[in-house]
Amino acid sequence: MKDLTLALATGRTAKQAIALLEKAGIVFPDYHNKSRKLVMVDKTKKIQLILVKTADLSTYVEKGAADVGVIGKDVVMEAQPDVYELADLHIGKCKVAVAGFPETALEKNSPVTVATKYPLITKSFFDEKGMAVETIKLNGSIELAPLIGLSDVIVDIVETGTTLKENGLEVLEEIMDISARLIVNKASFATKTEDIEQFIGKLTEALEVEI
Ligand code: PRP
Repeated sequence: MKDLTLALATGRTAKQAIALLEKAGIVFPDYHNKSRKLVMVDKTKKIQLILVKTADLSTYVEKGAADVGVIGKDVVMEAQPDVYELADLHIGKCKVAVAGFPETALEKNSPVTVATKYPLITKSFFDEKGMAVETIKLNGSIELAPLIGLSDVIVDIVETGTTLKENGLEVLEEIMDISARLIVNKASFATKTEDIEQFIGKLTEALEVEI
């Protein structure tokens, strides 16, 4: 039994998270970009790493299959898992934004259809503006929706802006800045307090060097 199980999401944030962990002296020798291995241990054999899909990560942590996890604030806001959010890791920085064809008007009284992976964030943003919108939940390639007339606009993550640009779309309104957060299972925090605090301490020190 390892002291801690850490969940990382496969994809872009994993690479940055692994780099931060290495700076903190936590090294997973078996991790490399092309590996299909889903479970591995760090050099000290005290931390077990599991690689999961972004949309599933908060479930692993909430249910205690992982003690700690690294996940974007966007996912935390959308999934609202029953976990502690204990640190901003300042990696995986991007924005959630409304995007569409240039000059798309977002007017209060005209009906707007929004395609998104984030129905809750979308609803709360447009509610605050006093706009009733129809939300269409998609799971990926959100930029396609306005291109083929499925929606007027999208609410999605924008990191480099390349996907929008290559599809003739642009940011119409920024909703919020996003970065990766460290989330912790509530029961684990009670039973493994020292291990978790040590782990967070190492990451925080590595972050201070970085910032
Ligand atoms: C995300 C997001 C955008 C893209 C933005 O998709 O949904 O499509 O990245 O990044 P950019 O601004 O750097 O181009 P992801 O790559 O996670 O894949 P998905 O379309 O399957 O959600």
